[in-house]
Amino acid sequence: MLIRTPKLSELKENQLTAQSVYSNRRNILKGLGYLGAGALLTGNKANAFNLFGTADKSPFKTRDLSFSQLTSEIDKQILTPDQKVISHNNFYEFGTGKSDPVEASQNFKVDPWTLKIDGLVEEPITLGYEDLYKAFDLEERIYRLRCVEAWSMVVPWIGFPLQKLLQKARPLSSAKYVAFETLYDPKQMPGQKSRFSGGGIDYPYVEGLRLDEASHPLTLMSVGLYGKTLPPQNGAPIRLVVPWKYGFKSIKSVVSIRLTDKMPPTTWNRLAPSEYGFYANVNPQVDHPRWSQGSERLITTGNLFNRNRVATKMFNGYEEVAPLYKDMDLTRYI
Ligand code: MTE
Repeated sequence: MLIRTPKLSELKENQLTAQSVYSNRRNILKGLGYLGAGALLTGNKANAFNLFGTADKSPFKTRDLSFSQLTSEIDKQILTPDQKVISHNNFYEFGTGKSDPVEASQNFKVDPWTLKIDGLVEEPITLGYEDLYKAFDLEERIYRLRCVEAWSMVVPWIGFPLQKLLQKARPLSSAKYVAFETLYDPKQMPGQKSRFSGGGIDYPYVEGLRLDEASHPLTLMSVGLYGKTLPPQNGAPIRLVVPWKYGFKSIKSVVSIRLTDKMPPTTWNRLAPSEYGFYANVNPQVDHPRWSQGSERLITTGNLFNRNRVATKMFNGYEEVAPLYKDMDLTRYI
């Protein structure tokens, strides 16, 4: 059984790199007890943006998905503080700086939303905005997120395994890969207006997984974090989270999931194939051509220097995925 619930005593900061930090609490969220729109948390008024981007001036509202027993039980020290998770972002559609997404995305409209699952499937599926929260039991999972830029966070996500969605769509035997696409809407996403403003990316942002990777129980479609629906800067209303791969694989604001028989193009690989592979598994033995991947800066209080540097683990500590790659040479750049 791959899914396990760690004992709370296991989840100490000094053990983070020694083991997977992963939790599965189906029962907490079963039945989806979200409390409706507009449930804002009171935040520090001195901050430009309060919890989940619900800035005083922001029209964007998150809503409760559930009271999170898990995140309140666990020593807050092991989780990256919520204010960091929602203000230190990569989302080039809203600018290339870490603070651009929270500032530029607060008018982003997530309702109505359409997510299509099609291609080589028996049963194409279309999910609307409310379906994202209701079609599957939601689970809370604490995952490490390791960016290819050598920083990392520990995030309590809420979502459902992609496997569940794929099972419902029933992939044909010819399906070998899954291709993902982010919304293309330059009116709402300033980075998509020109290559210059969007970091040279040819939008929409696209990603891909092998079907067996996509079907792994760790692969999550996330609709929330820290007990709330996702704020726009983190990929509202739905994003992928693949914890054993570099963060760029975890594509945000997904509108299309297509089953295919060919390896799909992926945004960063297309942009710089010598720097970003299709697989992009976290691997401390294979350095990025311009920097080491042997260690990472654990983002906690925002210290820019090396105080929170920890060793990077193979597969980001999720060793249970190793069998997926047993026939591959992991000392190569892939
Ligand atoms: N998805 C889209 N559509 N656009 C992006 O620029 N950035 C990726 C990934 N998903 C990105 C994206 C990168 S590089 C990382 S590290 C993670 O999102 C960051 O997720 P976070 O901002 O929630 O921490």
